[in-house]
Amino acid sequence: MTSLYNNKEASKFTIDLDLRVYTSRLLGQDSSLVLHGGGNTSVKSTATNLFGETEDILYVKGSGWDLATIEAEGFAPVKMNMLLKMAELKELKDPDMVKYQRLAMTNPSAPNPSVEAILHAIIPFKFVDHTHTDAIVTITNTDNGEDKIKELYGDKVLIIPYIMPGFVLAKLIYNMTRDIDWSKLEGMILMNHGLFTFNDNAKKSYEKTIELVDKAEKYLAEKGAILDIKESDSNIELLKLAKIRAEVSKLKGKATISILNDSSEAIHFSQQNLQKIATQGPLTPDHVIRTKRVPAILGDDFKTDLANYVKEYKKYFQNNKTNEVLLNPAPNFAILSGNGTLSFGGNAKEANIIKDINNHTFEAILKAEKLGGYKALSATNIFEVEYWSLEQAKLKKGGNSPEFNGKVALVTGAASGIGCAIAKMLNSRGAAIVALDINPEVESIFCKKDAIGIKCDLTSSEDIKNAVYKAVKSFGGIDIVVSNAGIFTPSENLDVLSDDNWQKSIDINLTSHQKLIKYTAPFLKLGIDSAIVMVASKNFPAPGKGAAAYSVAKAGQTQLARIAALELGEFGVRVNTLHPHAVFDTAIWTDEVLTNRAKAYNMSVQEYKTNNVLITEIKSDDVAELVCAMAGKPFAKTTGSQVAIDGGSDRII
Ligand code: NAI
Repeated sequence: MTSLYNNKEASKFTIDLDLRVYTSRLLGQDSSLVLHGGGNTSVKSTATNLFGETEDILYVKGSGWDLATIEAEGFAPVKMNMLLKMAELKELKDPDMVKYQRLAMTNPSAPNPSVEAILHAIIPFKFVDHTHTDAIVTITNTDNGEDKIKELYGDKVLIIPYIMPGFVLAKLIYNMTRDIDWSKLEGMILMNHGLFTFNDNAKKSYEKTIELVDKAEKYLAEKGAILDIKESDSNIELLKLAKIRAEVSKLKGKATISILNDSSEAIHFSQQNLQKIATQGPLTPDHVIRTKRVPAILGDDFKTDLANYVKEYKKYFQNNKTNEVLLNPAPNFAILSGNGTLSFGGNAKEANIIKDINNHTFEAILKAEKLGGYKALSATNIFEVEYWSLEQAKLKKGGNSPEFNGKVALVTGAASGIGCAIAKMLNSRGAAIVALDINPEVESIFCKKDAIGIKCDLTSSEDIKNAVYKAVKSFGGIDIVVSNAGIFTPSENLDVLSDDNWQKSIDINLTSHQKLIKYTAPFLKLGIDSAIVMVASKNFPAPGKGAAAYSVAKAGQTQLARIAALELGEFGVRVNTLHPHAVFDTAIWTDEVLTNRAKAYNMSVQEYKTNNVLITEIKSDDVAELVCAMAGKPFAKTTGSQVAIDGGSDRII
């Protein structure tokens, strides 16, 4: 491991807090040091209060911030004298600690200080860096881990036996360090938890972390704890993935995203003696709120395996509870014997965090196995953290979940116009999105963990199958299909209609929708409150001269939806159609086309745009809003319907 500290870059930061932000981000950049909000840092500085007095302040990472992206306002300013006084208390309940830490802040709108604020305060150095470094935690999580740490660092580090985070940890360290000579220490290693380094100089504190971790990494390599993983592929059946997701969603009582990890590393891990290595517990208790203590191990009879997991979880709860309330007992991740792993989350972001944590955990477990055997903390220790009120508070902070949380929506024609607006709106309301378009730009428009763009020609069965494959691997299944892609073909009367014009419209505006239903229906049947929304056209109920190729295809598309409604109803899949008209903020309506059309009708552009009963303009977002309704609760009991979104047409009314 090498230092990322750049003297030139760092010289730009002249105040303590800015330098603290800089080195915190250096730590946060390396996922083998901290992951997703893990770890914390602080700096001791001064500030002038309202009365002109100078106060000693600890700026400590605020809860909810991530070291990789932290800003100055992510640090909570807490009065040092209060924290030091709190450290002297004999006892302090954690919720009270949180309350009094907040009261000691000099800025009431700052985030809650880290639960390790008191611990940071008692370390008598300006900069304190705390990470959950993989290499060191791997060593502590082995048989005789403490002896190995001693062998590696001698008395340069203070070794702290495992204890719950929070006040008891701060108090233990306070007691252990009252009479020590801090200047002789290079760091503190908390068994099964992580590393603290400290110095009055930001660079030295950061680089001490790097140096101590580098030493641990080299130690692992010297002892043969290195992994040599062969390339391999998963051969899990796609429908089985969707069935597992459906079962897990049922057990969790809500739609759940399920991400397949079929990397060679994950497959390698899933081929080990899982009963021995995968059922011991997490690398550090900090991970338990995300991952739960252990995974479900799924074989051929995954339903029974999941039911047994729930039984075992309830047993674990009964064995350890005092007066806590049982959390949902379904697993947060699973190992598919020999075929990789699955992580389950209320949304794609959550499931990805679990996947990342697992990747690090699997590597650490495999290395620990080579170092004499992985040894996690006891179930009781893990339970304490899983049901710790402060950890639960972190998870509850989210408030009400968005309507489509945990759902997977596949939207076609998403690189432009109506499709793009639909995909973005469903995503903003919680859905994980698989956005398809023949235009490759779709891949850069949708390139987030919870929204992926895939170049796909919907007239090609192979392309559609490939997109469905990626959707199910990425998110576990499909619940919503918005069949929207389409083209306007040139206007030609029947007596001159070219074969090409006709065929192209039929291929894209009709047959592609049939193919899409064919390949997604098996997954929609396993989806959660599944729905297909067809974007057809007002041209079906109110056709126009010269538009045979387009109108006939749109009529066929509408008929297709009605038959799909009949066929899929018994599986709970709703199929509804909307007929937009004159939606001008789309690619098909260039300024030129719009101006010419308006002229042809002897209207101004504005008159042409609002040429409907309501005299209103229809935008892509208006169509997207109707799609959300059709895919969501308002249409929960409706199928086979057709709704116009055209401002009202006197030809149809
Ligand atoms: P648009 O041209 O902005 O978007 C259509 C998208 O479909 C484009 O990104 C295009 O690349 C994609 N596409 C075309 N052929 C494809 C293929 N073979 N495979 C994959 N993707 C393909 O047009 P707009 O207006 O957003 O149209 C969306 C839907 O709304 C279409 O079905 C259209 O017929 C319908 N519609 C639009 C109206 C309007 O006034 N904009 C009125 C009535 C219906």
